[in-house]
Amino acid sequence: MEDTSFAIHPGNKKQIEGSPFHDIGNIISFSSTEKGFSVECEQAAVEIVFYSDEIVRIIMNPFEKPSFKTSFGVIAEPDEVKVSSEEHDGAIVLSTSKLVIKIMREPFRLHVFDEEGNEIVRETNKGMGFNEKKEVICYKDMEIDDHFYGFGEKTSFLDKRGEKMTMWNSDVYAPHNPEIDALYESIPYFMALRNGRAYGIFFDNTFKSVFDMKSHTDTYSFWAEGGQLDYYILAGPTPGEVISQYTSLTGRMKLPPKWALGYHQSRYSYESEQEVRELARNFIDKGIPIDAIYLDIHYMDGYRVFTFDKDRFPAPEKLIADLKEAGIHVVPIVDPGVKEDPEYKIYQEGITNDLFCKYMEGNLFFGEVWPGNSAFPDFTNTKVRNWWGKKHKFYTDMGIEGIWNDMNEPAVFNETKTMDVKVMHGNDGDPKTHREMHNLYGLLMGESTYNGMKELLNGNRPFLLTRAGYSGVQRYAAVWTGDNRSFWEHLAMALPMVMNLGVSGVPFTGPDVGGFAHDTTGELLIRWTQFGTFTPYFRNHSALDTVRQEPWAFGEEVEAITKKYIQQRYVWMPYLYTLFNEASKTGSPVLRPLVMEYPNDEHTFNLSDQFLVGENVLVAPILSPSTFHRVVYLPEGNWINYWTEEKIAGGKHVLVEASLDTLPIFIKEGSIIPNGTVKQSTAVTEEKLTLHVYPANEKTECMLYEDDGKTFDYENGKYTETKISCYLEGESLTINMENSNEGFEPAWKEIEFQVHQAEEDLEIILNGNQIGNTHFHPEERKITFTTNKS
Ligand code: GLC
Repeated sequence: MEDTSFAIHPGNKKQIEGSPFHDIGNIISFSSTEKGFSVECEQAAVEIVFYSDEIVRIIMNPFEKPSFKTSFGVIAEPDEVKVSSEEHDGAIVLSTSKLVIKIMREPFRLHVFDEEGNEIVRETNKGMGFNEKKEVICYKDMEIDDHFYGFGEKTSFLDKRGEKMTMWNSDVYAPHNPEIDALYESIPYFMALRNGRAYGIFFDNTFKSVFDMKSHTDTYSFWAEGGQLDYYILAGPTPGEVISQYTSLTGRMKLPPKWALGYHQSRYSYESEQEVRELARNFIDKGIPIDAIYLDIHYMDGYRVFTFDKDRFPAPEKLIADLKEAGIHVVPIVDPGVKEDPEYKIYQEGITNDLFCKYMEGNLFFGEVWPGNSAFPDFTNTKVRNWWGKKHKFYTDMGIEGIWNDMNEPAVFNETKTMDVKVMHGNDGDPKTHREMHNLYGLLMGESTYNGMKELLNGNRPFLLTRAGYSGVQRYAAVWTGDNRSFWEHLAMALPMVMNLGVSGVPFTGPDVGGFAHDTTGELLIRWTQFGTFTPYFRNHSALDTVRQEPWAFGEEVEAITKKYIQQRYVWMPYLYTLFNEASKTGSPVLRPLVMEYPNDEHTFNLSDQFLVGENVLVAPILSPSTFHRVVYLPEGNWINYWTEEKIAGGKHVLVEASLDTLPIFIKEGSIIPNGTVKQSTAVTEEKLTLHVYPANEKTECMLYEDDGKTFDYENGKYTETKISCYLEGESLTINMENSNEGFEPAWKEIEFQVHQAEEDLEIILNGNQIGNTHFHPEERKITFTTNKS
């Protein structure tokens, strides 16, 4: 009945729930403590702790003494910070070199300013409080021109002003539409933009929480169903700095193995060894690059994790070894549900050693998932994480180096879609209900899997893909955006989703290319693969009973175009890998919204259908059928069409042609882009580096980062970083290459330079030497020359 108009029957009108808000009231006492500052208010206690000059943590607890313990999302400890404390006009003022916190006394209200005196947080009418349901809540003033980004994995457009979003990890098979306010990931954090300056708020509360940037025109709020109001204010002032500050708290991605950045092929399911071998052969015979093939749930014996079905996959080791020989990694799915089966070793171990989730009364929680009735490891206990991690020896012994974690919200086939919130997690002796720990389940499964795999791989980097997570998920896993559909709307929606995940500190993300559920079409597959070329995570995946969507499934034309863009992925690999390195160092996203680089340009504030890869590569995919042109917004500066070499002045919208085989790409003048070559997989040695130089009349530079792409040796200096700069002065172009670290010897032997937008008589000086042997291409206005590695 809920699916018909009966849902809006007048008799169904819901009472507006209302539980009166209690303000924390006036300040009774204020004192400085070892950790920071304590404020006693009429209705609550507040603690203020500075983590750095730019980051302050506020903890408000109306029910008990505030706890300084953080969630599993946070890995940082507070730094020693010099804070001055003064009293001005009846207000307490706490200042660092980057932040000023002004606290009004009657009632307690917070006003926060950045280093230049711009107000970033203000509480006027309402501030922090709670209600009878023990929900904690706070309100902040919202300016007419405030914009909001981040919030992890959410549907709808880029700017989340006007949205109300819930943080509760949810398995949503259908539909992913603007009404769905909770998906698989919960990242209770946002970056706000006010007058071109950015700040951030991270609400580290793992209960179900809500961010409401919708209900009031001049106020936003966030609240949680339980726990304390525990949040961090991040000073910015640039978007990049906010992300860096947020990831200084929650951690950054470790470099994934390079093969994880290649093209991946999946399907629910490739059901037998024969099917997998045929699939691999097809890719190789057709010369379509591929780095990984996924095994979905059919590889298992009755969906029991850590098993193979002997009939479908009689010799998995051999299959995995043969594929690896061909440059293809096999990535099996591992779900948390362990089949209730007294004759199954994993279940036996879990029961015998007390490793599964239980109620306080001692009885196990069982839920229905793919294997039927199942028990769930209690990942909040270190003992369980270690056990589960070690179990992956089953896979690593077979040569597997990548794992796909799914259903880890955890998803359960019941009314609530998840575990009973009354289940009591052990949490290493500090028991907590599932209501509090739910949003952490995927993160902790990820921690267990990643660390277990790392331990087992003898120095090789593991790859982990996850569906669910909480703040900090980037430390362990790439995130794909779950069960989307083969709808054009879902292709379009994936852009802001991936951009906002990037702003949320998760750089390694992407949707199922082609769409998971529903039937894709050749045209949709082409356009989606074009977008996939630049999504940090690039996997084609589709569901049971949908039409096949391998690159060749729709005939020759579709195959040729999808192949071209999968090849482009490999051409762009040196650039992408350098961006991955940057993300692992600073948290900055590989794929990012334009607003990150142009925060003063209002055209970028809600620009949801185009993005930047790094700082200077602008990509504008086609997102609707039978469409061969589109409007692209080019911000200030000059931009060069990657395909046609046309130079266009930015600061305006332009109409761009995009035939079926064209993904519009624009490079900003003043960029240097390192490219590689087309190859079957990342396992093939890179013979040649190509440097595309787009000169400008000012000095510009780029970095190239290289290492072995496999091990953690880069952590011990075994990498090479090259700074490449160029400067155009009159008819002379100076290019310099300088290694800032030379711990790794790249395989390529020669560099091809392609100088774009060049005149025939352009003089080129490379590292102080004039280059004589250049070749001018008049039609493309391009000069090329090749040098050997010096
Ligand atoms: C879930 C996953 C999907 C997978 C399927 C079967 O729906 O999101 O990717 O193919 O389960 O394992």
